[in-house]
Amino acid sequence: MGNVIILGSQWGDEGKGKIVDLFSARFDIVARYQGGHNAGHTVVVGNRKFVLKLIPSGILHPGKKAVIGNGMVINPAALLGEIDALESAGIDVTGRLFISNRAHVIFPVHPMMEGRLGKLIDTTKRGIGPCYEDKMGRRGFRIADLFNPDVFRAQYDLVMKEKVAIAKTLGIYEELDLRRIRDGYEAFAARILPMVRDTSMLLNQAIRDGKTVLFEGAQGTMLDIDFGTYPFVTSSSASAGGACTGTGVPPTRITGVIGISKAYITRVGGGPFPTEALDAMGDILRNRGNEYGAVTGRPRRCGWFDVPLLRYTAAINGFDSLVITKLDVLDKFGTIRVCTGYRLDGKFINVMPATVAEVGKIDPVYEDIPGWRTSTFGVSSYNDLPDKAKNYIAFLESRTGVEVGCISTGPERNQTIVRSGSRLAHLVG
Ligand code: GDP
Ligand code: IMO
Ligand code: MG
Repeated sequence: MGNVIILGSQWGDEGKGKIVDLFSARFDIVARYQGGHNAGHTVVVGNRKFVLKLIPSGILHPGKKAVIGNGMVINPAALLGEIDALESAGIDVTGRLFISNRAHVIFPVHPMMEGRLGKLIDTTKRGIGPCYEDKMGRRGFRIADLFNPDVFRAQYDLVMKEKVAIAKTLGIYEELDLRRIRDGYEAFAARILPMVRDTSMLLNQAIRDGKTVLFEGAQGTMLDIDFGTYPFVTSSSASAGGACTGTGVPPTRITGVIGISKAYITRVGGGPFPTEALDAMGDILRNRGNEYGAVTGRPRRCGWFDVPLLRYTAAINGFDSLVITKLDVLDKFGTIRVCTGYRLDGKFINVMPATVAEVGKIDPVYEDIPGWRTSTFGVSSYNDLPDKAKNYIAFLESRTGVEVGCISTGPERNQTIVRSGSRLAHLVG
């Protein structure tokens, strides 16, 4: 047991919420390190369903601490809405949720400025990209900045004047009541003050005290700003390295990295997708997997498991183990396609091309694996899986070179197989 990163190995929505919630029971603290309310992490507990956007999924376990790390961007209304919704569902947040004083803050000008690029990428339109732009441009506002009214007001008035001027040159004339917005942010600051901390120091002290931390990724490696299908990516470091820069916990304290992958693959929004199933098979995956965005309700694009992509994301993140989710969605298929190689311009390639033009031209090489055509829904013991489902898992392990330590067969906590003796079982205790 130690400090473990769990993150998406595809284009997001791999089932991080369910798996992080499940494993949170075995850790002391759960920390998010990047992204904002573009994330939608669904957790089903009995007949209750929670969609967490900013607050780490560990919050659903009584007594566990949750940290919103410095690498995140926070929309106040979204955060307060989430806190209120949890509290009214009887989940006590106060005293357990800690917000980094270095996290950046989203303002109404941010979604307003997504504009042309937002449409092209088909973003969640939450202002995520423009807020991270301001962070990197060194004109952003951090949580700590909200607590010094004189400095905040002067800086806010200056930056917002610039923003409105830039917006006009781009043909955006949205009316913003800047003064009222500023007052609203000061009220927000007052409300969250008891939860604001130097969370890097909090986490490092906890680790020194022998406590354990689970890091919850948002989005997925193929949406990572550096390693994803740029520019069709999100604006943060969704890969494992982001856990260190996004929380201030050093790499020397990380004991393992677990990748989450669906038994197939999905993508929401624009950008290349080599194994997308544009035929009836894609529709079956979407219907059986209920593949509609947890945040925006958009239908997710669906396709087949992509081994070269997984090998690429395993290399970047150093996966010790994989969780394969939504195995049950494949229950009805007579054959299951798996992409085991990429061809580009007629030649086999064993790298992920850097440009979307090339990724868009990839000709996937498929192998057909026999389906099991029987229900695996809710199976919680590896021995109870049909042989053909075990073969499918073994095939993925052999081709990706990473063990499958956990298999998910339904949205609920107990619909999960953790393989004893696996590296994953060792990491999560
Ligand atoms: P996240 O963003 O990675 O947390 O994933 P989402 O919550 O956006 O999407 C995953 C969806 O699949 C959610 O609705 C989950 O409740 C559901 N889910 C997770 N694991 C399984 C599984 O093994 N089987 C089925 N049928 N649904 C699952
Ligand atoms: P979780 O954490 C799936 C996608 C958007 C768009 C691109 C950029 O639930 O897996 P952004 O609003 O971030 O600037 O949009 O990234 N995207 C996601 N897709 N799951 C997510 O989060 C996503 N967050 C962003 O659809 O293509
Ligand atoms: Mg999601």
